[in-house]
Amino acid sequence: MRILITGGAGFIGSHLAETLIADGHRITVLDDLSGGQRSNVPDGADFEQADVSEADLDYLLARHRSEVVVHCAARASVSHSMSHPLADYHANQLPAFRLAEAASRQRVGQLILLSTSGVYGPVERPARETDLPAPANYYGIHKWAAERYFALSGVPWTALRLANVYGPRQRSDSEGGAVAIFLSHVLSGEPIHLYAAGEQTRDYVYVSDVVSAIVVAIQQRLPGVWNVGSGKETRIRDILDAITAALQRPANVQIEPPRPGDVARSSLDASRLVGTGFWRPTVSLEDGIRRTAEFWLNRGISS
Ligand SMILES: NC(=O)c1ccc[n+]([C@@H]2O[C@H](COP(=O)([O-])OP(=O)(O)OC[C@H]3O[C@@H](n4cnc5c(N)ncnc54)[C@H](O)[C@@H]3O)[C@@H](O)[C@H]2O)c1
Repeated sequence: MRILITGGAGFIGSHLAETLIADGHRITVLDDLSGGQRSNVPDGADFEQADVSEADLDYLLARHRSEVVVHCAARASVSHSMSHPLADYHANQLPAFRLAEAASRQRVGQLILLSTSGVYGPVERPARETDLPAPANYYGIHKWAAERYFALSGVPWTALRLANVYGPRQRSDSEGGAVAIFLSHVLSGEPIHLYAAGEQTRDYVYVSDVVSAIVVAIQQRLPGVWNVGSGKETRIRDILDAITAALQRPANVQIEPPRPGDVARSSLDASRLVGTGFWRPTVSLEDGIRRTAEFWLNRGISS
C-alpha cells in the first residue's frame, strides 16, 4: 500500500516508517522537522519537508497517491499546551482539520490518528473507550477535537489513544517523555525535576508495541477509537529507580510541585484491542527500559 506518515521524522513515526517499509509498503514521510530529524527517516521512504498546517495537502496526497494516512505529526507536550494554548491549537487541532478535509477530497482509504490517553483526563481505574472524555489540558482537548474531525470526514478512520510511549529515538528535551528525559539526565548528571515528587502514575507502552497496534489498525481497518496501553499504572519515581538501576548511576533529583494540566493517575484498558486477537503488549517495562538504556549508552550523552 501507499502510506503517508505525517511526523515520520519523529520518534513513533520513524519506527512506524521502518516497519512498514520492511513489510513492503511504499512510504511517504511528511514532516516539517520542527521536532523530528531528517536522519530518523529510513532509507526507502519518500520525504516531503512540509508543515501540515500550511502545505497543499491535496497536492501531496494526489502526488503520492496515498491510500492510508497515519497522522503522527503533533506537538506532544501537556505543559506547553497549558502555557501556550493557542499555539497548541495550531499545532494539534488545525492540522488534523486540514488533513481530514484533504483526505476526504482525495478519497483516501483510511485515516489514522495517534491520539492520547489525555482525552480521558484523570482516572480512578484504567480508562475504557466508552468512558466520557474529560481532558484536563489543552493537548487532550485538541487531540479529542482531532478525533472528531477524522470522524466527520467521511473517510474510514481510526483513533488510537496511546498511553505513555517510550523507546529509542524519543526526544529528551522538555517535550519528550519521562524515560528519555531521565535516561539523558542520569547519564549527563543534570538535575532531574521530579514534579509532584514522582507520585503520579502513568501507563507505559514500548514503541514497538505501539507500531504493532498501528499495523493492526491498517491491516484490519479498525474502525473508531481504540486504547493502546499496558493497563498497568507505574509511578514516575519507580521509572526513575528502574533507570538508575539499569545504568547503575545515581540521579540528581529536585522535587518540584505538580505542573498545571498534569493528572495524578493515568492508565488505559486496552482489552478491546487485545480482544481482537491481533494485538497485545509484548515488551515488559523492565525489558523496554533496558533496550532504551542500551540505545542511550550506545549513542552517547551528547546528542
Ligand atoms: N510519545 C508519547 O508518549 C505519545 C503518547 C500519546 C500520543 N502520542 C502522539 O503520537 C504522535 C507522535 O509522537 P512522538 O512522541 O513521536 O512525537 P515527536 O515529537 O517525536 O514526533 C512528532 C513529529 O511531528 C513533526 N511535526 C510536528 N508538527 C508538524 C507539522 N505541523 N507539520 C509537519 N510535521 C510536524 C515533528 O517534526 C516530529 O518529527 C503525536 O501525535 C503524539 O501526540 C505520543
